[in-house]
Amino acid sequence: MEYLLDTADVAAIRRGCEYYPLAGVTTNPSILAKEGRDVWEVLEEIRGIIGPDRILFVQTVQTRAEEMVKEAKLIAGRLGGSFGVKIPIGEEGLKATMQLRKEGIPVLMTAIFSPAQALIAARAGAAYVAPYVNRLDNISGNGCKVVAEIVRQFALYGLPCKVLAASFKNVEQVQRCASAGCQCATVSAELLKALISHPMTDAALEGFAADWKRAYGGRTILEME
Ligand code: E4P
Repeated sequence: MEYLLDTADVAAIRRGCEYYPLAGVTTNPSILAKEGRDVWEVLEEIRGIIGPDRILFVQTVQTRAEEMVKEAKLIAGRLGGSFGVKIPIGEEGLKATMQLRKEGIPVLMTAIFSPAQALIAARAGAAYVAPYVNRLDNISGNGCKVVAEIVRQFALYGLPCKVLAASFKNVEQVQRCASAGCQCATVSAELLKALISHPMTDAALEGFAADWKRAYGGRTILEME
C-alpha cells in the first residue's frame, strides 16, 4: 500500500514528507478552495515541498474533453515532475482519458462509486481510479467492499490500473482496503497519524521509559560513553 496526503495545506505536506514515507499528494477543487490561496502559487509550493519524484494529482475543472486535455497539459507542463490529472468519471472524462493516455499524462479517474465505473475507466486507459470509501459508507454502502471488488476485477482482466482509494475517515477503512490489495490510499494528515497510533504502543513505551529511568536515571546511551 502506498500512502498519499489528501490536502493542499503546505504545512501538513511539509511535515508529512518529513515524517512519513509518502508517495505523493492528491488535491481536488474543494481542497484547493479551502486554502483560499492563488491556485498556481499553492500548487507550485506543493511541488517544491514534495520534489519531482513524489506524484502530485490535480483535478481538472473543465467539463469538455478537449478542455480537460488542454488543462491537464498546461498543469503538467507548468508544475513539472511526477504528475497525474484527476478527471471525474463521465463520457467527457473517458474521452479525455483516452487522449491523455496517448499523450503520456497519467489519469486518476475520480468520483468512482462502483466497480462498473472503475472497470470502464481502466479500459479507457486510466492509470488510477479513486473510489470514495467513506462517502459510500455514509449512505449505508460498503466502500471497502467496492474497493475489494475493483481490485478483484482489475486482477481478473489483467488491467494495469491501480486503485487509489480516497475519502477515508478511519483506520479500519484503510486497513480493510489494504487487506483487499488496494495499491494506494490518500488520507488526511490526522488519519495518517492515527494509522501509526496504538494505545498498546503508548503503554509499551511508558513501561520502557519507567524501567530505564529506575535503573539509569535520566542518562541516555549516548551519555554513557
Ligand atoms: C479524492 O479523490 C477525493 O477528492 C477525496 O478524497 C474526497 O474525500 P472526502 O469524501 O473526504 O471529501
